[in-house]
Amino acid sequence: MRTPSGGRARVRSDFPIFAREFDGRPLVYLDSAATSQKPAVVIEAVADHLRNHNANVHRGVYALAQEADAAYDGARRAVAGFAGAQTDTTIFTKNVTEAINLVAYAWGRANLGPGDAVLITQAEHHANIVPWQVLCRERGAALRYLEVDENGELSLAALDAELARGDVRLVAFTHVSNVLGTINPVAEMTARVRAAGAVSLIDGAQAVPHMAVDVGAIGADFYAWTGHKALGPTGVGVLHGRREILEAMEPFLTGGDMIASVDFQSATWNELPAKFEAGTPMVAEAVGLRAAVDYLGRLGMDQVRAHERALTAYMLERLAQVPGLRVVGPAEADARGGLVSFTIDGMHPHDIAELANRAGVCIRAGHHCAQPLMRCLGVNATARASVGVYNEPADIDALVDALVRGREIFGL
Ligand SMILES: Cc1ncc(COP(=O)(O)O)c(C=O)c1O
Repeated sequence: MRTPSGGRARVRSDFPIFAREFDGRPLVYLDSAATSQKPAVVIEAVADHLRNHNANVHRGVYALAQEADAAYDGARRAVAGFAGAQTDTTIFTKNVTEAINLVAYAWGRANLGPGDAVLITQAEHHANIVPWQVLCRERGAALRYLEVDENGELSLAALDAELARGDVRLVAFTHVSNVLGTINPVAEMTARVRAAGAVSLIDGAQAVPHMAVDVGAIGADFYAWTGHKALGPTGVGVLHGRREILEAMEPFLTGGDMIASVDFQSATWNELPAKFEAGTPMVAEAVGLRAAVDYLGRLGMDQVRAHERALTAYMLERLAQVPGLRVVGPAEADARGGLVSFTIDGMHPHDIAELANRAGVCIRAGHHCAQPLMRCLGVNATARASVGVYNEPADIDALVDALVRGREIFGL
């Protein structure tokens, strides 16, 4: 990967956490799908904002308040531009979970009723399942699932068949599965959903940090993602929406900046995007996310994808050398984001993660907030290793060494 200052080592050294050691071993971090590590520029941007530019936003006339306004509004412009979206249809939320809930509450409650259906896929994170369950139960609508095949992929023909039933009002699906790694054909899917007169929502939590995402070109009605997986701070997520839908929607939460005027019995709403941002927003976090997307932009998202694709291909190749190890999801790195979930015969995924931990390797084990998918896969849990811009082939080697030693400890 090229960087402004050149070289892979430079990328890793941009992240202060890699100076840490655990029991004398360097940190091997393979859990970026859970949350990414943060480059110094992000940490410093947040600290600088709090230290030098802090004031509430959109309320003050004094110079410091105007600096805070400029920082927050500038963050929105940069984040929207990074994702190929328009600034005033880009809404800051707490995380992607809140962004999806915003749509379920504010769009769903006004537009769904008995006889209508929401279509999601078997590969969704709970954040893109439970809001629709609650909505459908409340509104008397049906919740249906698109199947994932044995290769971890969706079928466009099955999507067409569901849409042909005529009752689907909203289709919500992940861009990249956080368990299977599958990159879904999102532009083809949104085109079909739109042609059927339904609304599309994409969960981009595992996509935006790892590949060039152009929300405008994808054509989704709603596209949501989360800052902390994209090198940014926790506490900030993003919802990009189609203007005419956002304008027609009632607010999600009320109070503060989302208000234009208030009378004793009623109120009117502010313009986009303020209409969907109640109360004091996450100013420092948005500033941090701006520093994160600026950093990713300097690396170049095509370079980020190429680097992580190569690491994923290497991980698939090396994991195949571990006896009894089974990978879930597509066999080819081209069809995947930078994560690989797996099981090892005779070892519980939590034991796999603990043995990796003893070697200083951080991986995740569990259901990955995708319990329905676990049921489809016929497992309770998997281990998952996931990469970021700072990983190197040596990190994969450390994982594989730990797995091989772990099998020996288990007498396998
Ligand atoms: C695909 C996907 N969707 C949603 C989420 C939830 O993200 P957050 O907790 O930031 O809302 C995650 C993260 O775990 C995820 O991987």
